[in-house]
Amino acid sequence: TAGGTREALDPVRYLGNRSSGKQGIALATAAAKRGADVTLVGANLEAEAPSSVRVLHVGSTLELASAVQDVAPGVDAVIMAAAVADYRPEFVADSKIKKEVAGDRVRNPDILARLAETRRPGQLIVGFAAETEPDRDALLALGRAKIARKGSDLLVLNRVGWREGFGTDDNSIVLLDRLGDIVMEASGSKQTVADRILDAVVARLA
Ligand code: C5P
Repeated sequence: TAGGTREALDPVRYLGNRSSGKQGIALATAAAKRGADVTLVGANLEAEAPSSVRVLHVGSTLELASAVQDVAPGVDAVIMAAAVADYRPEFVADSKIKKEVAGDRVRNPDILARLAETRRPGQLIVGFAAETEPDRDALLALGRAKIARKGSDLLVLNRVGWREGFGTDDNSIVLLDRLGDIVMEASGSKQTVADRILDAVVARLA
């Protein structure tokens, strides 16, 4: 998956995030270059994927969940790079909401956790964690807690901020395994980072 989900509030507004989809597209592109048969579930992508990648375009978290559910059972590895909204408005208004109306929100399904729970033997599940925590040790602690909670095989931990991570052409990541150990660290272009992540994925698939 790549990009960021948007949860409609009314016909003209949504709750969303600044993920451009560039890291997920770089992963899909690099995997296709290595000969993989790639399906990219793209949420509101701001960049284009090459024709070597099959793209399913989605908008909301529920749409992304449904596309992933369709595709995941038939694949060797799932890499969940999309920034997914944890909540959505309980009701979507049919007309533009007036300022004084504040609606309730409901939890979205955790797609990654569900995938990890229902994966078949040998299938590899990779999650992402975008965190704003500036302290390295605290960032690693967040990543370790997250991979334990989600149950994925690997977790790509990356720091995001006003000028970091989302929307940029470069990235800096730490890859954690299920024990919370650091598998590797990579920084550079999102293409370079994608290749390093795929090296780790391929090593585990073999
Ligand atoms: O909990 P958090 O949003 O930080 O988790 C990030 C990871 O979980 C990403 O891989 C994202 O794609 C996935 N996720 C998900 N379903 C959600 C929220 C996040 O699959 N509802």
